[in-house]
Amino acid sequence: MPAFAPLLPRPPIGTVLLGLLALILGATACFAADPSPTGRSRAEVYHQVDAMAEVGQILFSDPALSASGRLSCASCHSPQNAYGPPNGLAVQLGGPRMRSMGTRAVPSLRYLQAIPAFTEHFFESDDEGDDSIDNGPTGGLTWDGRVDRLRDQAKIPLLSPVEMANASPAAIVATVRAAPYADALRGAFGDSVFDHPDTTFNAILEALEVYQQRSASFYPYSSRYDAYLAGRATLSPAEQHGLALFEDPAKGNCARCHVSRPDANGTPPQFTDYGLVALGVPRNRTIAVNADPDHYDLGLCGPDRTDMRTQPHYCGLFMTPTLRNVATRHSFFHNGVIHSLKEAIAFYVERDTKPEKWYPPDADGKVHKFDDLWSAYVGNVEMDAPFGGQPGDPPALSEAEIDDMVAFLRTLTDADQTSN
Ligand code: HEC
Ligand code: HEC
Repeated sequence: MPAFAPLLPRPPIGTVLLGLLALILGATACFAADPSPTGRSRAEVYHQVDAMAEVGQILFSDPALSASGRLSCASCHSPQNAYGPPNGLAVQLGGPRMRSMGTRAVPSLRYLQAIPAFTEHFFESDDEGDDSIDNGPTGGLTWDGRVDRLRDQAKIPLLSPVEMANASPAAIVATVRAAPYADALRGAFGDSVFDHPDTTFNAILEALEVYQQRSASFYPYSSRYDAYLAGRATLSPAEQHGLALFEDPAKGNCARCHVSRPDANGTPPQFTDYGLVALGVPRNRTIAVNADPDHYDLGLCGPDRTDMRTQPHYCGLFMTPTLRNVATRHSFFHNGVIHSLKEAIAFYVERDTKPEKWYPPDADGKVHKFDDLWSAYVGNVEMDAPFGGQPGDPPALSEAEIDDMVAFLRTLTDADQTSN
């Protein structure tokens, strides 16, 4: 487990690995004893977890796991791009002939380990926080928080007709059975792993999950900002100024949602509070499904997520992503509609002061704000700072201030990603 295992009121997704170890060992208490009740030493158990992660890494990069034969997890979640998209496309292409367009931007897979399971009512456990404040919908994986475990998440792209497009779990199992690494899967999960297709499929999902919990690859905390927090590096004047603006409630007010300081336990900040919030991001008319003027991606209330469809106050809410490694990205927000970090920040301070820059005019020539929401849901949109103000008001951040904030956000790039 990471040195910074955070304490959250609900089990963070990263504790799955701890649970896995406990399961293999036979009981949680056995961490103290060696060998375990199952008769296996801790070293053997760690060896098995390593073997699972190794085969998980191979699976993650294997394009044979797609109907096209051209798409692996790593094609969209590129290790050279902090496990985010390797290109500037708003959404990626997939499907059996690589001609189907996805519907959402590819998130980075770094720093997912502390995301709490999805809950509609989240109460802070932080000492400084007030436990009685309900922070609303929080947590879960994907832009709408619809799955809690990495193994369940992996099924989505493997079986999605617009992504890896496998016809069935059986098709995936058949591919892996014939793959050169079939023996590696046996080595990690036992000789009986191919006896039943369900066992094989679950092993594949588990291997992907264990791989995605490798700290060195998925949460290295190796950015210059981490070194700065640890007192091992300094920030330039521009970066320092950008940080101050990021945290200042009267300027960026960004840290309100993108937490920038270690918590009470000393866990480095994840740059998200995992909240689901409606920002009213402009509609991306280049996405194929949006050719239908009646199609709206409403995040938490659907259509991809199905259990909250009857909750209109959840329409338009999307996950607050981490901003770690955000400077390696070339498309921003859930629909990838914005293509530079500078513009992504400008959106916050100009959405209400200069709406005509962000939204197209209606038939009657008036600016159609929040054009990616049914009008009934406009009341869900976040209005507090850095949002707010009237058209024509000066934005909360000047262009030079936005430049300094970009300089600060660049310090959140992990050491192995700095060529981006
Ligand atoms: C065609 C591109 C594509 C491929 C291939 C792909 N993904 Fe993704 N991935 C996405 C997109 C887009 C999302 C956001 C989905 C959403 O919000 O509904 C995502 C989300 C995720 C998330 C949730 C991240 C978060 O911030 O909550 C995980 C984990 C993930 N993918 C893992 C995988 C794994 C494992 C594979 C291979 C089995 C894979 N992905 C293959 C595009 C892809
Ligand atoms: C009220 C909470 C909140 C505040 C305040 C906030 N954000 Fe965000 N941020 C979000 C949410 C939610 C998203 C995703 C929204 C979406 O895609 O629809 C997001 C997305 C982003 C993204 C895109 C990241 C990606 O991977 O695509 C950037 C960049 C960003 N925020 C920067 C900032 C900056 C800079 C500030 C301060 C000027 C700020 N945010 C203030 C909640 C917030």
